[in-house]
Amino acid sequence: MEAVVTDSDAKPAPRSDTPVLEARGVFRFRPVEGQDVPIVRDVSFALQPGEFATIMGPSGSGKSTLLHLLAGLDSPSAGDITVAGHDLGRADEEERAAIRRRHIGFIFQFFHLLPDLTVEENVTLPLRILGQNPRKHRGRIDNLLELLGVTKLRDRRPAAMSGGEMQRVSIARALSTQPPLILADEPTGNLSSKAGEEVVQLLGRVREKLGTAVLLVTHNPRDAAAGDRVMFLHDGAMLADNSLEGGPFGVADVHHRLEELGI
Ligand SMILES: Nc1ncnc2c1ncn2[C@@H]1O[C@H](COP(=O)(O)OP(=O)(O)OP(=O)(O)O)[C@@H](O)[C@H]1O
Ligand SMILES: [Mg+2]
Repeated sequence: MEAVVTDSDAKPAPRSDTPVLEARGVFRFRPVEGQDVPIVRDVSFALQPGEFATIMGPSGSGKSTLLHLLAGLDSPSAGDITVAGHDLGRADEEERAAIRRRHIGFIFQFFHLLPDLTVEENVTLPLRILGQNPRKHRGRIDNLLELLGVTKLRDRRPAAMSGGEMQRVSIARALSTQPPLILADEPTGNLSSKAGEEVVQLLGRVREKLGTAVLLVTHNPRDAAAGDRVMFLHDGAMLADNSLEGGPFGVADVHHRLEELGI
């Protein structure tokens, strides 16, 4: 029988000490009033498996632009990005999509759930896109819905859910293919303070229970303090990268650092 090649087995699995994400000298220019303006400037960092890092920066600092580059949804003007050892710059469009589907779960500010699908159908959609039968993953998907506290909602459609519920469902969807990395672009930006806090705490639980690395982009100091490392972006440049040994960053530390950096 001929082997069916899916993008899940297209490349050998990278060694576990390979950074789950690495950016080296990344720039992104965009034309503004006829001039090429750098929106992302010389960004370099590595994220290790299971790390929970946040990128903090004011509106317009280039957070979404950077996250789209990291996810392979946009290409850098210069520099290299590798995802779980796969160099996005060497991949063509199709390979980039395969790397993204296999290794990255993306969480958006506005959820992007499909309105005509139930929670369960939304959550298992990425599996079906990978050509996998969701029924074969039943137990794992059940555990995922449980972890995100949305088991009771499994037959509901997004229109009948709160923002916090929709975001928890979209986290479950992002995890359905067991990616080693979650990229979240302001996942609390459209939620109440309480629902937002729950979502960020859940991302912490996800990291703890599943070992998923999380890169959370935010302009909220409270959210930034949820990780164990905070990177500060300003005018497209990484001003500071605070990996704290021996303890999580507090909200006060984030405020203090913002003041020090003058942003
Ligand atoms: N397609 C584009 N063409 C030109 N400039 C753009 C384009 N997209 C974004 N920009 C500019 O790039 C800068 C960074 O935008 P980006 O959306 O990455 O910021 P952000 O930090 O995510 O902001 P926010 O917190 O408001 O989401 C902004 O000045 C924006 O106007
Ligand atoms: Mg943004």
